[in-house]
Amino acid sequence: MGAPRDILEVRQFDRPFLEELFARADGMRAVIAAGGSNRLQGRIMATLFFEPSTRTRLSFESAMSRLGGTVLSAEYARETSSAAKGETIEDTARIVEAYADVIVIRHPEVGAAARAAAVVDVPVINAGDGPHEHPTQALLDLYTIRSELGRIDDLRIALVGDLKYGRAPRSLALLLTQCRNIELVFVSPPNVRMGEDVTAALAAAGLPHREESDLAAVLPTADVVYQTRIQHERFSSEEDYQAARGRYIIDAASLRSMRPDAIVMHPLPRVDEIAPEVDADPRAAYFRQARNGVYLRMALLDMLLT
Ligand code: CP
Repeated sequence: MGAPRDILEVRQFDRPFLEELFARADGMRAVIAAGGSNRLQGRIMATLFFEPSTRTRLSFESAMSRLGGTVLSAEYARETSSAAKGETIEDTARIVEAYADVIVIRHPEVGAAARAAAVVDVPVINAGDGPHEHPTQALLDLYTIRSELGRIDDLRIALVGDLKYGRAPRSLALLLTQCRNIELVFVSPPNVRMGEDVTAALAAAGLPHREESDLAAVLPTADVVYQTRIQHERFSSEEDYQAARGRYIIDAASLRSMRPDAIVMHPLPRVDEIAPEVDADPRAAYFRQARNGVYLRMALLDMLLT
């Protein structure tokens, strides 16, 4: 595939695209070390965030700034854009394309970024559409695995926590269909199991996966333990949320049973599912993972806009 126009879901990526993107992301480390670049000077990125974010919005904005571009930011777009007056995402996108060369959208509705992309000519990047997909998170996650372990094939990966509402583990599972000899283990409370749309796609791609209720049984053989937050905001009842939370915690005891060369990842933010005592262990990769988001998003913006 050539450079895509939009970034909407991980299904659009193939292996050559990933290798090209990751090589470019490696190069962005040197760009930052050299004080940045003017490659995207004169280009404007608009970030429209209808849901909260720390990492995704700021790392996109940092990436654009590092490459010499400028940023228009609607940080609380649900309240402060004309969406609050009833404007549709399509109309908002039509207006913003007159102001920017690329639009990054986070929205609570599944398919919102795709709806925006369908009516504008500038690239649209899905920065999370409800519980559906978070494709750039999956890209930075796989880039992190490559950076930490030196490979993206031959891996046993445990996805832990909220696999129903967590768009990050859903997207990562789908992206792993581009890798060889992957074994996926899903460890989730019963009411937030991985969706059948994802498990069907994995089966169709021939990617072995299974469910396991006992996290302790998975830890000793995993190369990657990908922990996630229980997505409180997506539950329809507090009772259901309480039934899911607190079941699986990564702590010092977990680390003792993990391999010395394994890593712990998390898309963040965390609540209580990784104990702070884990942070100092070299296997705790989640803060490096967040930093990788800047390199990866620099590479992506560079690919889309040059
Ligand atoms: N990982 C992630 O999407 O974090 P934010 O919600 O802070 O953007």
